[in-house]
Amino acid sequence: MEQKRFYVTTPIYYVNDRPHIGHVYTTTIADVMARYHRMMGHDTFFLTGTDEHATKVVDAAAERGITTQQWADQNATAFQETFERLEMSNDDFIRTSQKRHMDRVTGYVQKLLDSGDVYLGDYEGWYDAGQEEYVPENKAKEYDFVSPVNGKPLVKKTEQNYFFKLSKYQDALLALLDLGEEVNGSTFDVQPSARKNEIVARVKEGLHDIPMTRTGMTDWGIKVPGDEEHTIYVWVDALFNYFSTVDTDDRKKYWPAEVHFIAKDILWFHAAIWPALLMALGEKLPKVVYSHSYWISEGQKMSKSLGNFIDLEKIDHYVETFSLDALRWFLATNGPMGTTDSDFAESKFIEVYNSDLANTFGNCASRISNMVAKYFDGVMPEKGPHVPMSDEYDNIAEQCVTKYTEAMANYQLAKAGDAAMELVRAVDSYIERTGPFKLAKDPEKLPEVASILYNCAEALRIASVMLWPFMPDKVQTFWSRIGFAAYGEALADKGAGQFEQWTNWGYLQPGTAIEKGDALFMRYQVPKK
Ligand code: MSP
Repeated sequence: MEQKRFYVTTPIYYVNDRPHIGHVYTTTIADVMARYHRMMGHDTFFLTGTDEHATKVVDAAAERGITTQQWADQNATAFQETFERLEMSNDDFIRTSQKRHMDRVTGYVQKLLDSGDVYLGDYEGWYDAGQEEYVPENKAKEYDFVSPVNGKPLVKKTEQNYFFKLSKYQDALLALLDLGEEVNGSTFDVQPSARKNEIVARVKEGLHDIPMTRTGMTDWGIKVPGDEEHTIYVWVDALFNYFSTVDTDDRKKYWPAEVHFIAKDILWFHAAIWPALLMALGEKLPKVVYSHSYWISEGQKMSKSLGNFIDLEKIDHYVETFSLDALRWFLATNGPMGTTDSDFAESKFIEVYNSDLANTFGNCASRISNMVAKYFDGVMPEKGPHVPMSDEYDNIAEQCVTKYTEAMANYQLAKAGDAAMELVRAVDSYIERTGPFKLAKDPEKLPEVASILYNCAEALRIASVMLWPFMPDKVQTFWSRIGFAAYGEALADKGAGQFEQWTNWGYLQPGTAIEKGDALFMRYQVPKK
């Protein structure tokens, strides 16, 4: 059977900004999904990168008296370093100023010129330099002719432009999104469904052809082939990154992408323009565009004027205080995957940290290793008589694993994380119910205690496999303590795992030394002011 593939992407981030929690968030959820699929044994490709050909990049460089390329290099490096430091496991980092991307985009546009999907015409409209896009007349009015992005006036511009025949794809888009039909062998879905409905409604209003070039950019951006006056619009250039990066002999197998993670701000480009461009090229469509909502900060929208971004300094503070895995866990399980925004509040972070990580996973791991140390000299005992884990059913681990994989298949990271934690909580209540610490006082009951501890450790091992994509470092530490360092070795350097086997009951061997070690997550006490 052919190995399953999984290609996941993040938006490519504007190179003008400093990385902040929003960028880190989308990259983290893509990373969790990529790690999960690698652990499933799938041939996985995870892409992130930077979007560099915006006019504002030219302006920002000029203001600083350096070349545009220097400015872009500097800032792209900041993104790259940040993601490395945060242990993102992306397989590549695409920069749109790289030749490999630029050359391919030229080729795609040439193909569209040849097919007539791109043609020369006149365009008059309101240009928003903040978002690098033309705003339709009615929107411009709504904004009072001021950019909602940077607060500067919209500019009325007439240009000769190359247009993309977006209108031609209206029916196909509706067939794909509204009717859920296949078009030319592809399906295309936008999630969550409320976001899809917004797109369907907008497509039904009618699609116009869109300008996809602009003039007046001298040496930055990608030129229209055969017409040096015109530069390809930054959004079209940027969207192509998902395809250009894998448009090589050895990577072509990854296309179509399984999922593009983005936020609601850039949904239209991904849900309407991008599939239309691909259809025009005769290429397959990504299966899913997943559009999440926004993080806000301590109850308020993050904005430059408020200066309340969860920026790199704050991110570092959380990592130093609570660990990188704690940040990953909080982002992935409390983030805005649905249609409502999530609040990044310190008090909430601490609450989640203490309850899920310190008191549940971490504490359960300590409890078990302490008891194995105390009653069995730190060696996993042979099982004694059967002591069921639960009154209702004895396959709670299997049930949690099923919940987990179903949730992961639907990008429900909070639900998946909770399925793993549910298993840990089941271990805790099993301990409460059976009271091994009481039983152990009676030497005759030690075989029962052995069964209980075996079941606990085995269930926790299975939970840890589910937790690995969320907290790879801590789980690795845990594995090395219970004799499963081999899992981590298999997964190191983006290796494939065997999730299905690893989550089967019975892998833990009696006779294994169980190391105690420090608490995986120390309980956090809010310092007294
Ligand atoms: N360069 C374009 C994307 C081109 S993709 C072909 C762009 N860049 S951006 O730097 O502005 O990044 C936008 C993305 O960053 C959002 O879609 C989202 O993934 C992430 N976030 C930025 N702010 C965010 C929050 N406050 N909350 C969550 N994610 C947000 O748009």
